Amino acid sequence: MKKDLLGLQYLPADEIMTILKNAVKMKEIVLSDKKKINTLEGKTVVTLFYENSTRTRMSFELAADYMGAHAANITASGSSVAKGESLIDTAKTIDAMGTDILIMRHGSSGAPHLIAPLVKASVINAGDGLHEHPTQALLDLYTILEKKGRIEGLKVAIVGDVYHSRVARSNIFALKKLGADVSVGGPSTLLPRGLENTGAKVFKSVQEAMIDADVVMGLRIQLERQKSGLFPSLGEYNRFFGIDDKRMCFAKDDAIVLHPGPVNRGVEFSSELVDGASSCINEQVTNGVAVRMSVMEWLRG
Ligand code: CP
Repeated sequence: MKKDLLGLQYLPADEIMTILKNAVKMKEIVLSDKKKINTLEGKTVVTLFYENSTRTRMSFELAADYMGAHAANITASGSSVAKGESLIDTAKTIDAMGTDILIMRHGSSGAPHLIAPLVKASVINAGDGLHEHPTQALLDLYTILEKKGRIEGLKVAIVGDVYHSRVARSNIFALKKLGADVSVGGPSTLLPRGLENTGAKVFKSVQEAMIDADVVMGLRIQLERQKSGLFPSLGEYNRFFGIDDKRMCFAKDDAIVLHPGPVNRGVEFSSELVDGASSCINEQVTNGVAVRMSVMEWLRG
């Protein structure tokens, strides 16, 4: 049994594939009329979120419910965190209630890594600062596999606000491990230094990164994390770096479009692209439930 899922940087390719293969079975359950298995019967799953979320938190809670677990949630604003209780004390308190799986989102990189050795519960990183968001990348990989049948040899363009994106980091680590050719593009102010060391090719324009891409993964402009001066305005960002049907011409004709959500429509992606035939954004959400079921089974099943 594995204890935690904190990131994909050090997770071997065969473990990633085990989670993705098992998610096929989980997706059948998600799409069925009787969404119930008993893999986590008697277990308790708690989501502890210090940052807002719709997809990740809800999909973990639904996944836990479909698997027969007791699911509970706690947010920083509605808990004793607001009275000044520390992260460590909060996590130990939740652990002491008999929690089996603790799913954490925190604004500080490394927060789940700090907590994991201090608690008996399995810890799943649901996004830590600018570091990793492993289950988002796993559902992205699953969606690529479902649509393209393979990952090895595909060209994946990751474009937008790479600097602030934990989604980009987890995806680059996993995609490189599974043999994809990864290109990254965006404004130079939103490209972190040393990105080339991951094995990704780095471009200062989205067009160059997208040439002949099989998959175009857009990233949200993280308005809540922007310092001023990284780009002049959202309108200007859209003009030079936004993706629309016209810019998609740089990618292959059958390229698919991914985005972790929530999308800033008219900024990183046009509405036509979000709602268009190549967009897999809603399927990513469905796949998120299946992949998170698979992750919890991998940890505790
Ligand atoms: N992709 C993602 O993490 O979305 P939420 O912030 O809604 O969970």
